Amino acid sequence: MAPKTYTWISLWFLLTTPVILWDAFYCFFRPRSMVGGDLHWIWQPYSIYQEIDYVYGIKALEDNNGFTNAQSFLNLVETLMNVSYLYLAHVSGWQAASLVGYTGAVMTFSKTVLYWLQEYYCGGCSVGHNNLQDLLVYWVLPNSLWLLLPGSIIYTLGRDIAASINTASRVSQKETNGKKQ
Ligand SMILES: *[C@@H]1O[C@H](CO)[C@@H](O)[C@H](O)[C@H]1NC(C)=O
Repeated sequence: MAPKTYTWISLWFLLTTPVILWDAFYCFFRPRSMVGGDLHWIWQPYSIYQEIDYVYGIKALEDNNGFTNAQSFLNLVETLMNVSYLYLAHVSGWQAASLVGYTGAVMTFSKTVLYWLQEYYCGGCSVGHNNLQDLLVYWVLPNSLWLLLPGSIIYTLGRDIAASINTASRVSQKETNGKKQ
């Protein structure tokens, strides 16, 4: 029997993987990936984003702020989890694949929350300079999506995992009761 999967979940894992890898390598290749750098052509849209979010901009680079690459490093771990989930669920057909997808989603969710909180507690130090429209379109919208989707995945896969554990424990309960009689 194949594990229970959901098209929307697998698609989200699949589609975000190249986007997140692109993003992670922008960070690792700074300053070469930034405006004026020899590799900037690979990350052209970041000419806008590096001015929107200073975590991606010159300021973080000059301050030698470790957060940018640290969160990118975790992105690579998440990518590994996401791709493993896809493989285990759709290729190996491993029953417990949901556990890997669930764990990856929890990591993404909590990192996104960390992003919001960091911004809140530093008084908008990285994105507070934007006008409302830029802030909404380039930061709030994508970062909300990265709460909503991982949150829904946590709920859905978590519910399946809980159901399996409950079923398994009922079955083993019955077996021990059966033996006693
Ligand atoms: C991993 O999956 C989550 C969904 O749980 C997605 O939001 C995130 O972008 C993916 N992360 C990476 C690094 O591919």
